[in-house]
Amino acid sequence: MAMTKVKKPHAALLASPGMGHLIPVLELGKRMVTHHDFLVTVFVVASDPASTSLLNSPTPNDDLGIVALPSVDISGLVDPKAPLVAKLLVLMRESLPSLRSSIAAMKCRPTALVVDLFGTDAFAIANEFGMLRYVFDTTTAWFLAVALHSSSIGKNVIWEEHVKSQKPLKVPGCKSLRFEDTLESFLNIDRFDGSQFLGTEMTKTDGILINTWEDLESTTVKALRDNNFLGRVVKVPIYPVGPLIRKDRKQVLDKEVKIWLDKQPTESVIYVSFGSGGTLSAKQIIELAWGLEQSRQRFIWVVRPPSENALGTYFTIGKNDGDGMPDYLPEGFFTRTKDIGLVIPMWAPQAQILSHPSVGGFLSHCGWNSTLESILNGVPMIAWPLYAEQKMNAALLTEEFGIAVRPKLSQTDEIVERDEIATMVKMIMVDNEEGHAMRTRVKELNSSAEKALSKGGSSYNSLSQIAKDCLQRLQA
Ligand SMILES: *[C@@H]1O[C@H](CO)[C@@H](O)[C@H](O)[C@H]1NC(C)=O
Ligand SMILES: *[C@@H]1O[C@H](CO)[C@@H](O)[C@H](O)[C@H]1NC(C)=O
Repeated sequence: MAMTKVKKPHAALLASPGMGHLIPVLELGKRMVTHHDFLVTVFVVASDPASTSLLNSPTPNDDLGIVALPSVDISGLVDPKAPLVAKLLVLMRESLPSLRSSIAAMKCRPTALVVDLFGTDAFAIANEFGMLRYVFDTTTAWFLAVALHSSSIGKNVIWEEHVKSQKPLKVPGCKSLRFEDTLESFLNIDRFDGSQFLGTEMTKTDGILINTWEDLESTTVKALRDNNFLGRVVKVPIYPVGPLIRKDRKQVLDKEVKIWLDKQPTESVIYVSFGSGGTLSAKQIIELAWGLEQSRQRFIWVVRPPSENALGTYFTIGKNDGDGMPDYLPEGFFTRTKDIGLVIPMWAPQAQILSHPSVGGFLSHCGWNSTLESILNGVPMIAWPLYAEQKMNAALLTEEFGIAVRPKLSQTDEIVERDEIATMVKMIMVDNEEGHAMRTRVKELNSSAEKALSKGGSSYNSLSQIAKDCLQRLQA
């Protein structure tokens, strides 16, 4: 009797542009291959040099393939001033024909298509080829709950009851969303269609993966699984699969940075960085410099030239046009802080810095990628959100997880002043009750994350279930 050959589940993953999407999608692919015996093909809509270098990084084995889709020119299709979300959606849509022909040409066609939040248009291709359809939310369960809930109540209700009245948006079973922390897309009724669309598409899938873990957001995950979440029966399975972050041992600390960090006492250095896309205004950079100096705490600061647009460098990351030392910092700053601080222009290997034993705090824009890195390194944070859903992340970090402090903005010009910055830095870096509690808590969260990912843990089981579903589809 011939043995039936056991086939592997095969998934195609589609990553939209931006490191914040690409990194978690690649990590998801690696995990599926190394822990769940999948074959994975990652399709990347790449648009910047930084993603290209990521694509050339080694994969765990031949079961993970990476395909960069040909770049498309959207300049004639979208207003250059259109919001980022709109641009991403157009970029994704224009890349679909090449995704379709790539999949059609594959000898062993994937059983499932996993897309991130901007890739749901690609489900037409999944339907055509009879593939299972999954969405991967690379942020939080709370963001997902807000997106799904808002699409179910509709934009008029959001506008009347949340934006116009500036009242909190109530989300069934979840933390309410304060108007001050709301999503940018809610503030402009014209932009709202995008998020509404994302919400309804997500409920028509075979499952929603989230880069979080059950113990971190247990209440929200439970609410999402409640059949009545949207006031109607939505039977989409919810799969927390995180935390997925990049563990790239190849990136190394600059020798100078390593020597400096090695000399500092344990947990004595605050790392200051606003992610791969974030920039501050000229005035805010000066306040931050004075704040760090006044705190008298040790720091590593990744600085970028000022820009009035927080998203200034989003589409051009990786281009280092700022060689040499920045001249937009206060006069004499380097001389006065040379014994306590290190300033790195443009970019630094964040994961390597955060995992150094001398680092004990992180002043961050609260991108979810960075937040997860901080938790997994047991580092408490100063939550300084800039754009996208970062204000929501900041609210979670401070009010739900208890691992961050959040600076107040001055009422006059929406800037964080130097005294406030110095106070916040001292609060998490100097030994005191509040800082100590945050440090303990963030280490507990790290352990619970490790548990979720290990065999039999909740995130591990999520991916096992998806593997089972794919095998079942293969055999059907
Ligand atoms: C995500 O993490 C990597 C390091 O693992 C870092 O280089 C990158 O800048 C981060 N991206 C964002 C969007 O925060
Ligand atoms: C995170 O948790 C793991 C597993 O419990 C542990 O081995 C590791 O040392 C922890 N890391 C930090 C920085 O606390």
